[in-house]
Amino acid sequence: MISRSEATDRVEVAPARSPLRGRIAVPGDKSIAHRALMFSALAGRGSVRGLPGGADVQATLGVLYGLGAKIHIRGVESDDGSVDEAEVLAPIRAASGPLHCGDSGTTMRLMAGVLCAAGVEGTLTADAGLAKRPMERIAEPLRRMGARVETTDGHAPVHVRPGALVGIEHASAVASAQVKSCVLLAGLRASGTTTVREPSRSRDHTERMLEAMGVAIERTATSVALRGGQKLTPVTVEVPGDLSSAAFPVAAALLVPGSEVEIEGVGLNPTRSGFLDALAKMGADVEAIVEGSSGGEPFGRIVARGDRALRAIEASGELVVRSIDELPALCAVAAFAKGRSVFKDASELRKKESDRIAAMARGLRALGVSCEELEDGIAIEGDPDRVLRASSPIDGSNDHRIVMAFACAALRAAGPVTIDGFSAIRKSYPGFFTDLARLGGRP
Ligand code: S3P
Repeated sequence: MISRSEATDRVEVAPARSPLRGRIAVPGDKSIAHRALMFSALAGRGSVRGLPGGADVQATLGVLYGLGAKIHIRGVESDDGSVDEAEVLAPIRAASGPLHCGDSGTTMRLMAGVLCAAGVEGTLTADAGLAKRPMERIAEPLRRMGARVETTDGHAPVHVRPGALVGIEHASAVASAQVKSCVLLAGLRASGTTTVREPSRSRDHTERMLEAMGVAIERTATSVALRGGQKLTPVTVEVPGDLSSAAFPVAAALLVPGSEVEIEGVGLNPTRSGFLDALAKMGADVEAIVEGSSGGEPFGRIVARGDRALRAIEASGELVVRSIDELPALCAVAAFAKGRSVFKDASELRKKESDRIAAMARGLRALGVSCEELEDGIAIEGDPDRVLRASSPIDGSNDHRIVMAFACAALRAAGPVTIDGFSAIRKSYPGFFTDLARLGGRP
């Protein structure tokens, strides 16, 4: 079903000839893992269990090492680099040199807040892709709090010199958990109260984890506030599976008739589960069963069956905020849902690892799906009986989620589809093609 060439960085995905079946666990949640490492390093101690092995979380580890934090790593899996336990033994002290965030936006934007919280000066550097993404959205509020923050024309490198900080009210123009988290972290060392308001509630992992670490937080539907001077109490964080990674095997199961795929131990935080709600609106047979909660984060099992005809949906506003990282997977599913699906209020998608609106529109058209690129989203003409054109190669746009979305769609093509740049999956889900092959019943 799948053949990969490391030399050309191309993967060829053949159409599924039989249903996908089986049970898998996806890598640990990236958003929670970044925060668990950073907040433990601020607390000076802590333990993180079930760390994903992707490159983004490695970038956060590297930055924390560069700041003098002592972190003991136990049990590295050889197949996907995931880690049984990372134990933080000593806090951040000072930067030994530039702090390289690789291609990880969460590392860079949250670390700017961590530097402020720790009162430590540092320069955050980035790979070429991340260096194109906007950083004034964090620099501007941090400056208003009293930090000296220099960007390079609004981009990385970002130099942060914290100084004395004062609490502010920040009304963010975008619903962004990265901006919210950065400002709240700086607020931990500011005088007075720091409040962040956003147009729609973004993922709230920071709030849940800080509360689990003993920080008092006041929340309304669209605002979060905390008082400065509160200390973090070390905790053990069990990282659940990443719903954003689970989205791809779920999409694959929905696209291949007769499939039944179960994903165990996945994070089911409601501020992240818009993808599941959107699928329910499409009429998909997807069950999410909450089985417990750890550190304030619900987790459970997802069962997806490819046994129903899907219908087109319109998604905008808070539903799009709660499914922003899963929109590439939703677009792949929408190509097979009867009617015209429209995703709006999603202009943030243009500022991710690639311009995901343009990347999805280009690739879907190449596969024979008619779609319209909107300024803030995409409209897709879906057809449940569609067989995609086996046109190759599709550009993975150096973006993990674009590669995985087209790999799912390719299961419904007339012949093999080649996707360029498959190694981008190392960012979040290095074992994706192995899992897909396993579900397809082939090694
Ligand atoms: C993340 C927040 C989101 C998301 C990203 C991870 C986080 O970005 O797209 O993959 O962990 O806080 P924005 O906050 O910029 O929307």
